Amino acid sequence: MAFITGQVVRDKNFWNRKLELEDIWEAIKNGEHSLLVAPRRVGKTSIMYKILDEPKDNYIALYMDSEEDNFEHQFWARLFNSLKKEEFTNKFKSNITKFKAIIKAIDIKKISLSGIEFKETKAINYKDAFEELMNSLPKEQKVIIMIDEFAQTIENIIKYDSEENALNLLKTHRAIRQANQSNNIVFIYAGSIGLESVVAKLDGMKHINDLKPIKVSPLEIDDAHDFISHLLTHNSIKVDKIQIDYMLDKIEWLIPFYIQLILDEIKKLSRKNPNITNDTVDSAIDNALEHKNYFDNWRSKIKDAFSDEGYLFSKEVLNIISEHKTISKNNIANIADKYGVSDDEKRETLQSLVYDGYINNSNDIKIYRFNSPILRMWWYKYVAN
Ligand SMILES: Nc1ncnc2c1ncn2[C@@H]1O[C@H](COP(=O)(O)OP(=O)(O)OP(=O)(O)O)[C@@H](O)[C@H]1O
Ligand SMILES: [Mg+2]
Repeated sequence: MAFITGQVVRDKNFWNRKLELEDIWEAIKNGEHSLLVAPRRVGKTSIMYKILDEPKDNYIALYMDSEEDNFEHQFWARLFNSLKKEEFTNKFKSNITKFKAIIKAIDIKKISLSGIEFKETKAINYKDAFEELMNSLPKEQKVIIMIDEFAQTIENIIKYDSEENALNLLKTHRAIRQANQSNNIVFIYAGSIGLESVVAKLDGMKHINDLKPIKVSPLEIDDAHDFISHLLTHNSIKVDKIQIDYMLDKIEWLIPFYIQLILDEIKKLSRKNPNITNDTVDSAIDNALEHKNYFDNWRSKIKDAFSDEGYLFSKEVLNIISEHKTISKNNIANIADKYGVSDDEKRETLQSLVYDGYINNSNDIKIYRFNSPILRMWWYKYVAN
């Protein structure tokens, strides 16, 4: 198991996410479509790849990342092209061969702005085309379609295409899910931004309310301990339990990414001095914070997602929490006033910050704090000052 900091982890580099995978497979087997819910960097894409790499039983799995799609038709072109390019997996070779043959026989001729052209037929709309394709499958053939960064696609379409087409895409997905009575396809959506908040802006919640939310959580403390021991052993680095506890205490929000990031820095420091102390852990954290590209997205995201006032408001709220560790609701209200942010916008902005994993008020409803002390330290050093 190697240290991987940023890329999707696969195969032996994947630390098992047992509970999440159990939830997901249960949903798949019940024919339920799901939405993986978790803030940035918690490990959603790696979980989807695990399903792609090791689909159970008879399932055919397909993964696509639609982040770059700015137009409705681009999304569909990507989906049909993935099918055409046979970017799917299955446990059994014979199934793959059969599935490939079916897709070939359907013969996707052209994917155009308005729809799909099969063999001799005229272009038909995406929904009908998708249904035709799915109807051609044997009833017992189960297909899992995983769509990563779907909310980003919806946001892109709103920005570059039109709100109408963004809604259309949601409606078509809903219609396909509904039409699929035999439950032989299951969709799993995920993304680094919350689908609910993007869809709420379109007043389109009714088009996604059939999706089952599945939460991807940070690691539990014991699991994090095991993960760290495993990584250290595999990389021949010796760190005493006291220092591991110290590190876990510092990381607090135990997503695998921060664990990897800090262990990777410890590895580098251990080359100079193999005796790892609490000071080494502190230095490793300082060094980890210097990777601007790992963190900057947290700042740029709020700039892109919020209005100008919303950005200034949320930046100041986060600046204050980064310095004082907490902020009260009263103080937040004062900052909203200062930037002319309405009550509604204030509420929505705070909800987004909570949903996207920046802050929480779980201990005390009136007090907000950062989820991650690591992000708080970065914010204090590189944004607030
Ligand atoms: N199961 C895992 N085992 C080991 N490391 C992991 C695991 N899941 C995530 N990581 C760590 O977190 C990083 C990000 O993982 P991943 O890309 O899967 O997260 P994500 O939630 O899809 O992120 P984003 O929201 O940015 O798309 C990986 O590079 C790795 O460092
Ligand atoms: Mg991802």
